[in-house]
Amino acid sequence: ADTKVYRASTTAPVNIAVVKYWGKRDTKLNLPTNSSLSVTLSQSDLRTLTTASCSALFPASEGDSLLLNGAPSDVSGARTQACFRELRARRASLEAADPSLPKLSTLPLRLVSENNFPTAAGLASSAAGFAAFVRAIADLYELPASPSELSLIARQGSGSACRSLFGGYVAWRMGAQENGGDSTADQVAEASHWPEMRALILVASAAKKGVSSTSGMQQTVATSGLFKERIATVVPANMAAMEKAIAERDFEVFGEVTMRDSNSFHATCADTYPPIFYMNDVSRAAIRAVEAINAAAGRTVAAYTFDAGPNAVVYYLEKDTEAVVGSFYHVLGGVDGWKTAAIGGLKPLLALD
Ligand code: PMV
Repeated sequence: ADTKVYRASTTAPVNIAVVKYWGKRDTKLNLPTNSSLSVTLSQSDLRTLTTASCSALFPASEGDSLLLNGAPSDVSGARTQACFRELRARRASLEAADPSLPKLSTLPLRLVSENNFPTAAGLASSAAGFAAFVRAIADLYELPASPSELSLIARQGSGSACRSLFGGYVAWRMGAQENGGDSTADQVAEASHWPEMRALILVASAAKKGVSSTSGMQQTVATSGLFKERIATVVPANMAAMEKAIAERDFEVFGEVTMRDSNSFHATCADTYPPIFYMNDVSRAAIRAVEAINAAAGRTVAAYTFDAGPNAVVYYLEKDTEAVVGSFYHVLGGVDGWKTAAIGGLKPLLALD
């Protein structure tokens, strides 16, 4: 009998969208109502490391398991199950085509996953988490899958995870097919295309977000009129402008579109009934600080964006580090809420891969 323990390890980075994914047209397959675009953060600063293993020695009664940051984590959710199913099906067809391959597809899987950033950073880690989860198992199974095909599987775990299969600047095309076959991510530009890009993470609160992205999206799609306008005209225009700004390394446009798109996304949340507020007073102070920094510089040197929570990510160029990072300490040092929680807990300067 085969008593070998098969094992594969991989890492996946965090990504922060500059044109946001917000809204599902199919909740089962995680198909979005709009395309989105993100910047992948440096793995030396923020990443998930995952090891997948399987063996006939693992008791079948234990089933599949996941140890996340040292604690057992539930794998029975529909999204996690969809990822297991997709990956096993691909391995099973390899095994069917080549009977000499070890039969791994029927063995229980053990996953061990660690983030290198503190939970206190208050960052949603599902993107890096599902991307690493999918790639670790794909590597273990030796699947001949491209990053684009893996993005299709990771998308079913968490929408934004499909963008963490690539470095640099990444677009998730919403696609048109009902089965989601064309709803995948692709790389718009390598990180080296714009090596001066930097991201600063400002932690307003490390608490877990109040309204999950899944229910927030569901409520927005169901009750916001503004949302219809966002997906019909605002996002398509932002996607086009953003891709052009990246191609031309135009930070003025990159920054303005980033801030406008974040504002548009949070406006649709405020337009739901009842309204959803992800930003708080501390978040709004960060917006004012960015405005003050840009006004003092006489141009856009910093661009804020907020996900489904109060923490800010600020993009800027390396040459403006002094103006941006220095000013944040200066401006926000006196603002309540930033005194203790601000900038601390996590290295403020995050270079991009
Ligand atoms: O991948 P999810 O389901 O956690 O949704 C992420 C949604 C945002 O972070 C708010 C936007 C985005 O594009 O990442």
